[in-house]
Amino acid sequence: MAQTLLLLPGDGIGPEVIEQTVRVAEKVAPDLGLDYGLIGGASYDELGTPLSEDTIAKAKASDAVLMGAVGGSKWDGVERHNRPEAGLLGMRVALDTYANLRPALCFDALADASALKRHLVEGLDIMIVRELVGGVYFGQPKGIETLEDGTRRGFDNAEYTTPEIHRITRVAFDIAKGRGNYDRKWGGVCSVEKSNVMDSGLLWKQEVQALYDAELKDMGVPLHHMLADACAMQLVREPKGFDVILADNLFGDILSDEASMLTGSIGMLPSASLSDPGKPGFFEPVHGSAPDIAGQGKANPCAAILSLEMALRWSLDRPDAADAITRAVGAALEKGARTGDLGGELSTSGMGDAILAEL
Ligand code: NAD
Ligand code: IPM
Ligand code: MN
Repeated sequence: MAQTLLLLPGDGIGPEVIEQTVRVAEKVAPDLGLDYGLIGGASYDELGTPLSEDTIAKAKASDAVLMGAVGGSKWDGVERHNRPEAGLLGMRVALDTYANLRPALCFDALADASALKRHLVEGLDIMIVRELVGGVYFGQPKGIETLEDGTRRGFDNAEYTTPEIHRITRVAFDIAKGRGNYDRKWGGVCSVEKSNVMDSGLLWKQEVQALYDAELKDMGVPLHHMLADACAMQLVREPKGFDVILADNLFGDILSDEASMLTGSIGMLPSASLSDPGKPGFFEPVHGSAPDIAGQGKANPCAAILSLEMALRWSLDRPDAADAITRAVGAALEKGARTGDLGGELSTSGMGDAILAEL
């Protein structure tokens, strides 16, 4: 049976970057069945919900799902559970994509586009493995309440359980094993938390270590622990010292935005959200809907195109097509193709043209 990829363009620059990604998909995987669905604000406007049962059913029936972006000030006044972001979080839970892989890879041609000096980022290739369906994002209770004196109290609950920590730790070790970069300063897996302040962080550190001692030690993959704030610092001081960073939902979110700027632009960073083998993966750029440039044809489509690359590699078992995309993006950049975020002048479709020309 033909494989299917469900496209969820979403809001803001989402549809613009997905349009270019579709051109690439039709070129490298012409037999792939493409279907479309609604998510985020686009879904709320049409159906009154940011994530419909129809979209969930379509996603579950697909081999992989590729989203553009969700969000925008247009929906600022909407109740939280109907906000565009709630659609994205709901999809992650519906597909149980607990393992979010966020590679930060600096293309040679972009070493000078980074906010850091060339020698710090040249050849950078790190992987952030972020737990995606637990932690403070989903912990109960959460809310905003009005106190007796009329002031208000907002609260969230950061929590993790042993199974949640163990399953994401296994993913991080499998990936580190495949990469084999043990000679780096924090090579192998570097697990980050705030065990010095948070009990859920202390449990995280203890459970990662316990699983390592009991089952993972024999893999030969080194394990390091680091406080999340120190990791944020080391990421700009010595980013190439890292290999695989294992983080909870919140720290992984923050550290991956930080890592994106090492690679030149947030417009370059793709991500894969994976569940257990055999279940559909969810792929999306790390960036958001970029309301400041939406509708202007300025968005960099690379993060979305590289998210297709990850879908081909991690869910669709088409490594050759994936390699072709990585090569084409690198070649286009070598020839000077740049959107505004990279200091150039190409439009979104111009960048798409430059990449297609290399395929
Ligand atoms: P953002 O990532 O949308 O934008 C941050 C900055 O980076 C902006 O200046 C933007 O123009 C720029 N940028 C982002 N992607 C770019 C691209 N492909 N090419 C060129 N420049 C790019 O983050 P934000 O402004 O904090 O959030 C905007 C909205 O997006 C919010 O509603 C937020 O909740 C949502 N958001 C969604 C996702 C997602 O859909 N996965 C991720 C992050 C934020
Ligand atoms: C991301 C985004 C999302 C997150 C938002 C839009 C819910 O920032 O994918 O990085 O916080 O996970
Ligand atoms: Mn984020």
